[in-house]
Order: sequence, then C-alpha cells, then structure tokens
Amino acid sequence: MRTPMIAGNWKMNMTVSEGSKMVKNLIPLVKDARDVEIAVCPPATELYLIKMVLEGTNIGLGAQNMHWEDSGAYTGEISPVMVQELCQYVIIGHSERRQYFGETDETVNKKVKAAIKLGLIPIVCVGETLEEREAGQTEKVCERQVLAALDELSAYEIAKLIIAYEPIWAIGTGRSATSDDANETIGYIRRIVENEFYDTAQMLRILYGGSVKPNNISEYMQQSEIDGALVGGASLDAESFAAIVNFK
Ligand code: PGA
Repeated sequence: MRTPMIAGNWKMNMTVSEGSKMVKNLIPLVKDARDVEIAVCPPATELYLIKMVLEGTNIGLGAQNMHWEDSGAYTGEISPVMVQELCQYVIIGHSERRQYFGETDETVNKKVKAAIKLGLIPIVCVGETLEEREAGQTEKVCERQVLAALDELSAYEIAKLIIAYEPIWAIGTGRSATSDDANETIGYIRRIVENEFYDTAQMLRILYGGSVKPNNISEYMQQSEIDGALVGGASLDAESFAAIVNFK
C-alpha cells in the first residue's frame, strides 16, 4: 500500500509572517487527517521559522529547490546540507525551474542524488508542454525526464523518492488534466520504472500536479495510479489546502 501524499508548493508567495500565520491556521484543520502524508514547501526564507511552528504536528516541511554541492562559491544558492537541517522533502526539477532557471535533466539527476545521499526525500517533477502534448510526445518526454532523473540510482534509492507528474499546460492555468489522462500517464511512468525495478515501482509514489483544487481532488484520488497531489495555488490558503488534505 502506498501512503497518499499531499504537498503544497507555495512557489514565490508569502512572507515569513504570512507563512507562519498560514501554517498556524492549517495545523488544527488537518490534525485529524489519517493515512495521508502532508507537507508544505515554503520559500527558503521561511523554512526555519515554519519548522519551529510545525514541530510535533503531522505536517512535514520541504524546500522548493537546492544546489547539489554541500557548500561552496555558489552565490544565492542553498545546499542540501542546509536543507537537510530543516526539512524532510525537497522539490526538484519543477517545470518553472526548468523553464526560467536553466534546470536540465542532468542537474535534476545531480540534485536527486544529493538529496538521497542526505536522507532528504526528493519530489521530482516531470511533465510535458502543451506543444509536446499536442504533438503526441507526452510519453516520450516523461520517459526521458524520468530516466534521466533516476540515472545511476539503485532500486533501494528509487523506492525512497516521490515523482510528481505535472503537465506544464495544467500548472496555474485552471486547466487541469482529466483524472483519466493523469492516471494513464502516471501508469506509464510507473511502467518505465517497472521495466528495471518491478517491486520498487509498486512502492514508488507518483503524484499529480496542475490546478488541483478542493473540488477535483477526490476524482484524482480515486484513480488507481495516482498517489496524491502537488498543489500550487490552492495550497496558499489554509482552508482550501486542508480541504484537499481531507479529501476523503
Ligand atoms: P498549480 O501548481 O496547482 O497552481 O497549478 C502546481 C505546481 O506547479 O506544483
């Protein structure tokens, strides 16, 4: 049985005071959630304070990105060691990082390896653009991204990570993928992993992301291959994020 996961990606939203207020509101709303793993991924400036606020709750903490080196002359970056002191999770290879900040399949792989080495759980994002989808390349693109991200990892290491399938055309657009489409692509991603590591693929959690809202989460969660959601816009408000967490 794969434990479902609901993770909130705040992106570049919320100040320290806004973020801590939001999680203080969220804590009582999700405290009775059972059989679901919950995480929020605030901007790096908020991680320390939010870690304190979340202590002793059922909400985990993730960073939105990191470098792959432990330390060094990389102005503006945060390292895996820094993230590991504060978080359990780290989002890697989000399409916005790929699109605006030069993230490549190769850097995604380096970051995934660095995260696993330190016991952080990477939430690795993959997904196709609208042009790629219309050209019938969804599977090809996902396959390339997944194989590159997992390159040189053992079955044991792959079992620890989480993949998020996020079709780029569905992110922040209000145009979500149908639950059948998302299920099909996620099933395809699982089969890519199955080809090499059958048992691991059955344990691997694969989330859907892209305009997930309180009114569509249960549709996704009813699908056999979808193990949860990576939520952007709807994770910024405590009530709407809680409604997604409490989807049952
Ligand atoms: P969205 O973002 O829910 O606002 O579409 C999802 C994501 O980018 O992770």
